[in-house]
Amino acid sequence: MADTGDSRIRLSFEGPLATIVIARQDKLNALDYRMVLALEQAARLVEEQTAVRAAIITGEGEKSFCAGGDIEAWSALSPGEFGLAWVRHGHRAFDALARLRQPLIAVLNGHTLGGGLELAATADFRIAEQHVKIGSPETGLGIIPGWSGTQRSVNRFGPQLVRRMALLGELFTAEEGLGLGLVDALAPRGRGMAAATEMAQRIMHRGPLATQSAKMLINAAEGEEVHRPLEALAGGLASSSEELKEGLAAFRQKRPPEF
Ligand code: COA
Repeated sequence: MADTGDSRIRLSFEGPLATIVIARQDKLNALDYRMVLALEQAARLVEEQTAVRAAIITGEGEKSFCAGGDIEAWSALSPGEFGLAWVRHGHRAFDALARLRQPLIAVLNGHTLGGGLELAATADFRIAEQHVKIGSPETGLGIIPGWSGTQRSVNRFGPQLVRRMALLGELFTAEEGLGLGLVDALAPRGRGMAAATEMAQRIMHRGPLATQSAKMLINAAEGEEVHRPLEALAGGLASSSEELKEGLAAFRQKRPPEF
């Protein structure tokens, strides 16, 4: 088990597959501040492992993937702490997950609500077990979806669907979620991880460089991030070119390069 800084965010590696488990069953896997920081650390650790080709994120138990941000934790914050720490660090963690090099699969094994849906939205694929309820109940509590639920979710799911969840409080079943494009596949109760492992195998049989480059390009097209993928892909091209070889040889031989 890798050290994420919080034992409730469990990160393990099995060959080329990384698995992150949110383990706070007594609170339906709701995320407090330390767990958010640990999620960011987990993303960093996965990203660093060049041998890792795919990652899965899920919740512990059968009842909840994640019931959102910890209501008791955030409601005790001052407005400054709420905006500058809670929301900002939540974005940092969720951005790190959405921008992972490796494809990420979320196994929705129960309630996927509020911050839980925002977390699920960071994944490239969502597999929902059949009993799952999905929604964005925050405005019913008098707060906004603040971990990218009005931003990334709009890009990924479309504005009208987000309106239905965020403004009307509609909750969707897994099957409805499949029809609406919120989820990519269904699994029977307790079988989500098996389905995700199978999906990860499909990913891991494909060219890792091509897969990761394609993910970066899709993210860029979606507006997830543009500058880093552009420089990463161009940097990769330049670093494998004859031009670079000649430039370095000229530098070492103290002569002008001949391009
Ligand atoms: N933050 C903090 N605690 C939460 C939580 C959250 N987002 N969601 C659930 N919990 C806690 C409950 O307070 C309860 O704690 P307790 O046993 O100490 O009282 C425990 O998890 C179990 O939840 P409970 O409400 O008893 O389960 P349930 O099956 O009756 O209802 C839900 C399940 C998901 C419908 C309900 O817990 C809920 O509405 N949660 C909030 C969802 C939400 O609004 N998320 C967005 C937050 S910004």
